[in-house]
Amino acid sequence: MNDALSHAYPSPASPAPGVAPAPGAGDRAFAEGVALATPGARIMAVTSGKGGVGKTFVSANLAAALTRRGHRVLVLDADLGLANLDVVLNLHPKITLHDVFTGKAQLEDAVIQAPGGFSVVLAGSGMVEYSRLTPTVRNEFLNVIQTLAPRYDVVLLDTGAGISDVVLFSVSLASEVLIVATPEPTSLTDAYAAIKVLATQQKRQQMRLVVNQTRRPGDGRAITGQLQQVLDRFVTTDTGRPVRLIHMGDIPTDTAVRDAIMRRQLLMLQMPGCPAALAIAQLAAKIDTALLERKSG
Ligand SMILES: Nc1ncnc2c1ncn2[C@@H]1O[C@H](COP(=O)(O)OP(=O)(O)O)[C@@H](O)[C@H]1O
Ligand SMILES: [Mg+2]
Repeated sequence: MNDALSHAYPSPASPAPGVAPAPGAGDRAFAEGVALATPGARIMAVTSGKGGVGKTFVSANLAAALTRRGHRVLVLDADLGLANLDVVLNLHPKITLHDVFTGKAQLEDAVIQAPGGFSVVLAGSGMVEYSRLTPTVRNEFLNVIQTLAPRYDVVLLDTGAGISDVVLFSVSLASEVLIVATPEPTSLTDAYAAIKVLATQQKRQQMRLVVNQTRRPGDGRAITGQLQQVLDRFVTTDTGRPVRLIHMGDIPTDTAVRDAIMRRQLLMLQMPGCPAALAIAQLAAKIDTALLERKSG
């Protein structure tokens, strides 16, 4: 796998092929500005290189698990082009980000309660026009986060996949990044590309990784180690230090996940004892220890 990754991105110094210079370069400073303006909340982007790896499933169920641990949680559907958090949560919102972005509704009215006890703001259909990064998208996104984040302990951004400018911008609003990857080689190559771009363009010194749809215990740790080796070799941040990947856990492949999604229910509510739900509860505990305990304690 190392070879495949290094073939895909052979040059340590130059940007990944085909990756335009960052339209959002400097967004890290921007994100720090947002973080400073929102002292109440930890903002965590849940993102991935490849699509369909489980970002929305993880965001929704992690939100339920963090809520159960006593935190005030908001999930923002930041996957403007392919929003589907509403489907996973079986919500039919009257007001979405689309109405807020077009000035048809107040942001306050777009915040709705999800089963599981957390708040969500859904992107809704009709957002495809906003899947490009325009000044409107930047300003509206920023305004949503700045207004809502102070009311919560943690905000999860369920972002799109990949390294398009709108995805990179939404990630830039977060102080923490949780990459979701599966053990598939294509997912790992894409995760590496995303990590590399986030490290170089947003000057991120560390990112967190959760490996979803694992088959054996230990898969995630091995994969994190392999990715870290390639990062050590090929990616250096501005400080000259390598970017550090923090393994946050594994979520096994579990038929209960598909069942819950087919029924449009949260796994954490429907099957809290199944292996994938237990893994998400562990992930929540780890996030709690790493990021939130000082506030809850
Ligand atoms: N741990 C898992 N076990 C089994 N199936 C899973 C698991 N995680 C995700 N899936 C499947 O993958 C699909 C895509 O997940 P989703 O969260 O929509 O991905 P993304 O938001 O990254 O595009 C889900 O509908 C589900 O069927
Ligand atoms: Mg999704």
